[in-house]
Amino acid sequence: MSENKQKKDKPKASAEPEIMEKIVSLCKQRGFVFQSSEIYGGLKSCYDYGPLGAELKRNVKAEWWRTMVHGREDVVGIDASIIMHPNVWRASGHLAGFTDPMVDCKDCKERGRADKWPKADVGSEVEYKVIVDHQSGKKETRKGKVGALGIVCPNCGSPNTSDIRRFNMMFRTSLGSVDNIESIAKALEGKNLQGDELKKVIADAIGETAVYLRPETAQAMFTNFINVQTSMRMKPPFGIAQQGKSFRNEITVEHFTFRSCEFEQMEMEYFVPPPQYAEEGKDDMYWYNYWCTERLKWYSDLGIRKEKLRLRAHEASELAHYAKACSDVEYDYPWGWGELEGIAHRSDYDLKAHEKASGKRLTFFDSQKNAHYHPFVIEPAAGADRTALAFLLDAYTEEPPPPGTNEGRTVLKLHPRLAPIKVAVFPLVKKEGMPEVARKIIDEFVKNQINAFYDEKDAIGRRYRRQDECGTPYCITVDGQTAQDGSVTIRERDSMNQERIQVADAVAVVKKRLA
Ligand code: GAP
Repeated sequence: MSENKQKKDKPKASAEPEIMEKIVSLCKQRGFVFQSSEIYGGLKSCYDYGPLGAELKRNVKAEWWRTMVHGREDVVGIDASIIMHPNVWRASGHLAGFTDPMVDCKDCKERGRADKWPKADVGSEVEYKVIVDHQSGKKETRKGKVGALGIVCPNCGSPNTSDIRRFNMMFRTSLGSVDNIESIAKALEGKNLQGDELKKVIADAIGETAVYLRPETAQAMFTNFINVQTSMRMKPPFGIAQQGKSFRNEITVEHFTFRSCEFEQMEMEYFVPPPQYAEEGKDDMYWYNYWCTERLKWYSDLGIRKEKLRLRAHEASELAHYAKACSDVEYDYPWGWGELEGIAHRSDYDLKAHEKASGKRLTFFDSQKNAHYHPFVIEPAAGADRTALAFLLDAYTEEPPPPGTNEGRTVLKLHPRLAPIKVAVFPLVKKEGMPEVARKIIDEFVKNQINAFYDEKDAIGRRYRRQDECGTPYCITVDGQTAQDGSVTIRERDSMNQERIQVADAVAVVKKRLA
């Protein structure tokens, strides 16, 4: 839950609109991300991944799974249901405590999260402008004193805010063939209730069938701890990983897919022996530091520039009461440093909480030490959408025209393994048998399940530019020489270098470069 606790550096007043507008526009134009339900005017904070976006996100998730599960003997994966027993959320603390501090501006009616609104000195006088005529946009200048919350409205600057109301971020629905409206109507029949009493009767009526869309994937790893440990005969230290959708009714959705209400997480719970049973030199803090290093490295190994990444250790005041430590992998977004992933040392809190609530023992029996213990948990928790966005932002490059020309280019310098299309194949011209050869090359890539794209429209330069914008790392062109010696050119996206290879070697060459 570090996401809601994180402290941010001051946001940059600079580049966000311009670069984000460019990214959003490129995403739509090239089929990465579309506004959900666009033909009906869209739905706030809901996005659909188009053909290239779906590939990119799948590649991000595949790389994570490759590194975190297939690349290790000590981690196994699960795929749990999104709807879990409501007691899971009672035990985890989400029902009581997964809330955001909601606040309203009394002047312009802006609503948001109090912890995200601009800070101001309590008692200081501020001047702000409020629209008084919405048709003409006429504004009135007002003055006011900053109240005890020490915040002002981000929209109009007014210090005139409501009190904070806690707002549970879990999406509630009901399970079973019971209509909530029927239950509420039945519970209220013949009663004349007001205020808290009314709320309680309604809550009780809904409560019988209430279930929640999971706000994180992590809890299924705790509830399945014994199932996984015994079925796979795992011994701490070992991890359970999962990827999947999570849902949070965020008050503030922002920065495109950075913070939305429906998103995908990639989480791993790594169960380690508590200090008294740990192998020498490999206690819980060793594993916490290990995972901080590993996770930071994962992003730079996949091409994010090192200077755009950092690990930020949480201050004691930011930590949950049960957490021994927490760090965020942060990226330098166009609006400033922000969380990409949280790595939390959750002590033995979760297993103990579920053991208490369920009455089922959630310990590991160490036969060598003849001891039952609750493992400590280190949790690297990342978001697939946010990671895909960071890769896009980091890859986005505008190159000026080379000397002597007037055409620059926009390139997505994505790591080849993340690139949605791996190779594009072009006939230089639509004649002299070139399209036929290009089609044969495409067929070979398809047979080898390498995502390839055929294009014969427009001049060759424009075709290269289109693929640069999609992040395609390799372009193969069939030209006049192909008929003579069976060779084609292969152009590398970032350097634009071209070399000649044999048609017969095309698949092997690309495979080798993608490995
Ligand atoms: N189990 C711990 C946990 O869920 P979190 O920091 O709240 O921790 C982990 O979430 C990651 O999930 C975040 O670092 C972020 O990448 C992603 N995430 C969280 N809330 C999100 C949202 N509203 N939209 C997109 N991604 C989100």
